[in-house]
Amino acid sequence: MTEGVNGMPGTPSEESEPDLARRRMLTATTAAVGAVGVALAATPFIESMEPSETARALGAPVIIDISKLQPKHMLITSWRRRPIYVLRRTESELKRLAALNGTLKDPLSKADQQPASLPGWNPIQRSIVPEYLVAVGICTHLGCMPKLHARVGDPLLGASWPGGYYCPCHGSRYDLAARVMDGSPAPLNLPVPPHFYRDEHTIVVGELSNGTEKNWEPNTW
Ligand code: FES
Repeated sequence: MTEGVNGMPGTPSEESEPDLARRRMLTATTAAVGAVGVALAATPFIESMEPSETARALGAPVIIDISKLQPKHMLITSWRRRPIYVLRRTESELKRLAALNGTLKDPLSKADQQPASLPGWNPIQRSIVPEYLVAVGICTHLGCMPKLHARVGDPLLGASWPGGYYCPCHGSRYDLAARVMDGSPAPLNLPVPPHFYRDEHTIVVGELSNGTEKNWEPNTW
């Protein structure tokens, strides 16, 4: 299994008790900036994205070229200074998702971690085109970046590991639909941002095709 990028911020400070929301935002911002730097170095095929970095930082929609994204690979870009993961899943990975429902906190994506209306939305796969997961790569516990471990039974995570994301800060686990697993300190699934497919090779993140949801915010990120 190959991951496009393995960005990872530091563990949140334990020296004081800063306001949780402020700490989450600071961590998310740091993580996103780091992710972009690594992504540009390791995945040159996303350099064609528009608009400019400045516009993206201000929240403009991001255009992502997925034409070279291979199955089992992930690319990372940013939107609103947060990392955006685009994972291309295989047919067998998609088939395994429903069997995990009994081990997840929100298997049907009932919490507001995605826009209320996403045309084509599948709440188990958490996608509008099955093979592509588009998610905000910020752990809903305290804001670290979960790392992709797609391999079933990954030795680092044990024989029962179904494939998914693992947060190295405090051990939260998510499946390959970014649904949080029982026993994780993270309370919610990773956010899925507003997005649509401009064509089969191009995803626009930050709005829907009718121009709505530009100011969308999840319950937690
Ligand atoms: S930040 Fe604590 S488990 Fe991810």
